[in-house]
Amino acid sequence: MKKIQISPSILSANFSKLGDEIKRLEDAGADMVHVDVMDGHFVPNLTIGPPVIKALKKNSSIPFDVHLMISPVHKYIEAYADAGADIITIHPEATENLQNSIDKIKEFKKKVGVSLNPETKINLIRKFLDQIDLILIMSVNPGFGGQKFMPEVLNKVKELVDIRKEKNLNFDIEIDGGINFENSKLAIEAGVNILVSGTTIFKSNDGDIKKNIDLLRSL
Ligand code: DX5
Ligand code: ZN
Repeated sequence: MKKIQISPSILSANFSKLGDEIKRLEDAGADMVHVDVMDGHFVPNLTIGPPVIKALKKNSSIPFDVHLMISPVHKYIEAYADAGADIITIHPEATENLQNSIDKIKEFKKKVGVSLNPETKINLIRKFLDQIDLILIMSVNPGFGGQKFMPEVLNKVKELVDIRKEKNLNFDIEIDGGINFENSKLAIEAGVNILVSGTTIFKSNDGDIKKNIDLLRSL
């Protein structure tokens, strides 16, 4: 079994001091930081872009797990790579040619992530699985933090675990949306090895992020 890693989403952090918030996550033992990029088009919300990521990356030492909810995504991959993303995750519906976008991410020597919305089927990405480093399973419809976890997506996690074994592949399985201390266990049992969490990490237990990260990690 792969080691369980925690990728806190800064969507729930204090946006007026994001640099300090990332430092706090590093000190609390976060494995990476999840950056939600939204364009008001692919999803009905707007967040941050490359200049902010670049500024934050300069003073951070943990990997940046950048989740691009933007369309068309292809022409922006370079900007996020330059800004310092370590993992670049895209949605297959947001690009005209997934192969070209995967190649582009690899060109910049970044890890390739592909995200599946709750209603998106594995079939859409099946033939690309051997080129993907990470599959991000959305357990809410992307766009906002603080939504309710959709347990039915765990079936896709289990299916991916089976495919990975059968085809002798090695991609990570990350889950994103509505993760809390109860469903984190279900997700880990299903085969997830990276948990994204915004609300639970930043708001539970009076914002004790170290405690919340440790609790999420322990099955
Ligand atoms: C949703 C984002 C998630 C979300 C996670 O579009 O991709 O990363 O902010 O936040 P919580 O944990 O609050 O659901
Ligand atoms: Zn996300």
